[in-house]
Amino acid sequence: MISISRAFQLTNIYSKRLVNSRYPSTTPRFLSAVDDAASSSEISTVNIDRPMRKKKKKKGNKMSKEKRREFIGKRKAVDNGRWSVAYAPGGKDGFSFEAKSGLPDRTKPFTVLGIESSCDDTGAAVLRSDGVILGESLASQSEIHEEFGGIVPGLAKTAHEEKIDSVVNEAIARAGLNSVADVDAIGVTVGPGLEICLRVGCNKARELAMEHKKPFVSVHHLEAHILMARLPFDDKNAKFNVGGTEEVHESKRTVQFPFLALLVSGGHCQLMKCLGIGRYEIIGGTIDDSLGEAFDKTARLLGLPVGGGGGPAVEKLAKEGDPKAVELPIPLQKRKDCDFSYAGLKTAVRMKTEKIAAERGLDSVDDLSHEDKANIASSFQNVAIKHIEQRLKRTMDMLENEDGGIRSLAVVGGVAANQELRRRLEAICESRNEPWEMMVPPPRLCTDQGAMAAWAAIERIVVGSTDIPDNQEVYARFPFQSLS
Ligand code: KG4
Ligand code: ZN
Repeated sequence: MISISRAFQLTNIYSKRLVNSRYPSTTPRFLSAVDDAASSSEISTVNIDRPMRKKKKKKGNKMSKEKRREFIGKRKAVDNGRWSVAYAPGGKDGFSFEAKSGLPDRTKPFTVLGIESSCDDTGAAVLRSDGVILGESLASQSEIHEEFGGIVPGLAKTAHEEKIDSVVNEAIARAGLNSVADVDAIGVTVGPGLEICLRVGCNKARELAMEHKKPFVSVHHLEAHILMARLPFDDKNAKFNVGGTEEVHESKRTVQFPFLALLVSGGHCQLMKCLGIGRYEIIGGTIDDSLGEAFDKTARLLGLPVGGGGGPAVEKLAKEGDPKAVELPIPLQKRKDCDFSYAGLKTAVRMKTEKIAAERGLDSVDDLSHEDKANIASSFQNVAIKHIEQRLKRTMDMLENEDGGIRSLAVVGGVAANQELRRRLEAICESRNEPWEMMVPPPRLCTDQGAMAAWAAIERIVVGSTDIPDNQEVYARFPFQSLS
């Protein structure tokens, strides 16, 4: 194990790549995608043996300010056919679902094995159709990636390969089942994510579905995060333990369509109108970094543990600091839309941190006192959440003036585990003239795990949608299909 400061040096060397080591966003990266055609198809990877090459500046490919403005918040690059594979299980109309590999009997409770390997966690779980988690297993790779300060795809893939069988077997055993033959269907994340990692889970699920002749569901990772907010995970919606029609299932969900989702994870930062399974309208997305990335980079800067994401470490340290101690700019003050940006805040945090270190006469930010680091963490978190609050309020104003009647917010993705974020967003929901209800999965179900793949597959099965396992591909980029 090398020291944190050594990891920090390594991080600096490969920073350009490592910052993108969590998979990049699909739809919201419009501006960067326009400027950088090279990013259109491939996920960026970290090669630890090869030094980074300097990116050549593109000439003559810049859009005018006016042209950009035309697209902001409305149409993203993906809507213009830049990526060929879009997620649309229900066809263009969003409704014509097809059970391509059959369906379990949905009038009784059924069970689904879910597999997730899109990034740095190998997860599997067996869920019953009423939302009961029967058995779970999760192999975290945080220790493997810790020393590199980010996720190294090659190492992640190998770790997935090593763990996939034991994780699946453990989930099955913990569910009290003898073998995969005892589940009623299989679901697996097929994108977006790191392609070589996704393939490990996808191949395993395909094999199992074909061997045991089970209905198969290819799960969209972002939809799976969103749908976790609908899992009846608390007493509010007692477990119903029966099957039934689509309407019966829908009535038991903790949040029902349509609702607004705020997805904040390592790869994404989006506000979405959720209209139904496979039917999502993007209201705002990040033009550069995601909120999770900003947390991870701040953790790295402050020399905190980053394996498995630096967010929890920043949150913990922030509790000891003063959120107003370090002045930082709230992003995108001049843009009155619902998009996000965290790249500027990241730079501001770094510059302020270096300035404080210089003022203290220190050679390196590593030598800052615990108090200084806590103040930086707390101030960063405060401003990062302020940006979310502003964009969310604007979106709520907009939706409250629409006919759709949306008054429910689902906060999902890894960063939704952050208690300060939850508390402040809850306060916003309560402060509205007509208060909104807010659903957030329990913290451990906000970050990546197997239950999300199983639950998303259950939701797809309930509406009668399954896929063919034989040639199922995986997709680094997997944008939601535009509904307009
Ligand atoms: O959803 P997730 O597990 O993976 C992706 O789909 O990206 O999200 C991981 C992200 C990481 O950036 C991690 O630092 C962040 O979620 N995260 C948090 C917290 N827990 C995880 N960020 C802030 N506070 C937390 N408590
Ligand atoms: Zn995720």
